[in-house]
Amino acid sequence: MCGIVGYTGIEPVKDILIEGLKRLEYRGYDSAGVAIENDGELEVVHCVGKVGELADKVADRSMPGTCGIGHTRWATHGRPSEKNAHPHTSCDGRIAVVHNGIIENFAELRESLMAKGHVFTSETDTEVLAHLVEDAYEGDLLHAVHAATQRVIGAYGLAAVAADEPGTIIATRKDSPIVIGRGEHGSYVASDIIALIDATRDVVILGDHQFAKLTADSIEYFKEPGERFEPEVTHIDWDVDLAEKGGYPDFMLKEIHEQPRVVRDTLAGRMAGGMLTIDELDLSHDELNLIDRIYVIACGTSYHAGLVAKQLIEGWARIPTEVEVASEFRYRNPIITPTTLVVAVSQSGETADTLAAIRDARVRGAKVFGITNVVGSPVARESDGVIYTKANKEIAVASTKSFLGQVVSLTLLAMLLAQSKGKLTTSQIKLLFKELADTAEQIETILSDTAAIDKAALACKDACSSLFIGRGLGAAICAEGALKLKEISYLHAESYPAGEMKHGPIALIDDGFPVVAVATQSPTYEKTISNLQESRARGALIVAIATEGDTEIEKHADYVIYIPKVRDCFSPITASVPLQLFARAIAVARGCDVDQPRNLAKSVTVE
Ligand code: F6R
Repeated sequence: MCGIVGYTGIEPVKDILIEGLKRLEYRGYDSAGVAIENDGELEVVHCVGKVGELADKVADRSMPGTCGIGHTRWATHGRPSEKNAHPHTSCDGRIAVVHNGIIENFAELRESLMAKGHVFTSETDTEVLAHLVEDAYEGDLLHAVHAATQRVIGAYGLAAVAADEPGTIIATRKDSPIVIGRGEHGSYVASDIIALIDATRDVVILGDHQFAKLTADSIEYFKEPGERFEPEVTHIDWDVDLAEKGGYPDFMLKEIHEQPRVVRDTLAGRMAGGMLTIDELDLSHDELNLIDRIYVIACGTSYHAGLVAKQLIEGWARIPTEVEVASEFRYRNPIITPTTLVVAVSQSGETADTLAAIRDARVRGAKVFGITNVVGSPVARESDGVIYTKANKEIAVASTKSFLGQVVSLTLLAMLLAQSKGKLTTSQIKLLFKELADTAEQIETILSDTAAIDKAALACKDACSSLFIGRGLGAAICAEGALKLKEISYLHAESYPAGEMKHGPIALIDDGFPVVAVATQSPTYEKTISNLQESRARGALIVAIATEGDTEIEKHADYVIYIPKVRDCFSPITASVPLQLFARAIAVARGCDVDQPRNLAKSVTVE
């Protein structure tokens, strides 16, 4: 949720922290701060707002220190304010801590620390960490951080510095990511690889309850104080350019344009000798064959990918499949047997509700497959098998390419289950796989000419509300189209199965009210056209996503956005692209920050 960065070395740390925080800003951006150690003192600067404001605030300050920690915050406990911004410090200001996660028992810890005389200045849960470290500090920061974490219940990725230990940073984690790297001029810690990719390609992904002690010329790893270990080093081969906008005005557009590559990369190596394989799942043909019930659990956009999966799995493999938002699934009593498969879908791999649902499902005896974009993420680690979507780092808060990666991965999973159950023949699988691969080129065609999308967006940009309607897979894609529009443009959008229109939502329609319809060629095409007619008769402004060559639809829509003809089962892949572009075009026309919409964070590590 929040971003953490730290450096100790021979270079002045101020600019290194600011640059690192800018890279992390997509994780949270309502306040920011740094703590820089210099001559045995800590200088702490906070500000409300984006990292740019922090950069302005520290620009003219002489902060020559070469060791420090920084933070960009997405508020959980305590509103965005200067006093709630990290780093948080101990009473004497000689210890500073930055934290990502949530301390569940912070209220009782705070009370017991206050009883011992600690004075708190913020409303955050993190501040207790600074005081716990202070409470345990006897001249050894590693010992003190270790002791503090023993008292904490919750999730944390944290980094701490102490004025009395110049040049040292201690980092640790539980359920929130921390990565460590050694560059030419010093040692780095961050909550995300992207913040240290310029300094090093070889990183250590710290495990839960592990500790790292960083100094200017070395990094030591501990299971606990006194028990050192050699960690595994992961080489990162991303192009740095991947983390930058690559010539596009915003990350969202760049990421939308990466989708043909995502399809190709996700499919690469999946067909061997006429058989579909997903080796990472580590389940035999027979084990797959036994599966008789599936739950897809996810949140937000990932949940919408699940809606697509349900229809494909039930259609092809004939396995009853439920799709549930993780925050509901975990609090009810789902029917789980040893032959139940839970598929947990999470781009970030760290969504708190999805993780909790995975743990719950496993305790109840289900097998869990994770579908995630982040290697080594908690969802990947806690699942029995994992499919990595090959979207690569997604920076824009609104998911686009990772959604597509999820849909393609889930399509493969549905085909694999159907293959194991003998519901699809080898030649059917081969044909479907080829057509699935062809969608990469079809997306390129859509991306090559967006004039019709831009025109429709301009016509809708001043609306207050809108409806997205479709049937079957079109309804699933409408759910995602409506979410995309509301989250980045703040234009209210609601999705409905088209057949439900007349049971209520049609009352919303009056002159100029936008109705966006996914009306591609499908067995229910004619029915959807009837719903367009009903809407239009009441004054709706109709935008239709339709199949190339369907001139008939022009009679029923004000704006038609054509996409290449695909088999209905692959329409979610192609039809979602114009809806992403439509949402973005409206957001741009309304002057919104498409990459960092208000109130949202890229990964939601609180419940
Ligand atoms: C919307 C969006 C969110 C996420 C949701 C779950 O564009 O990205 O709705 O899909 O917060 O996140 P993950 O997939 O990381 O579990």
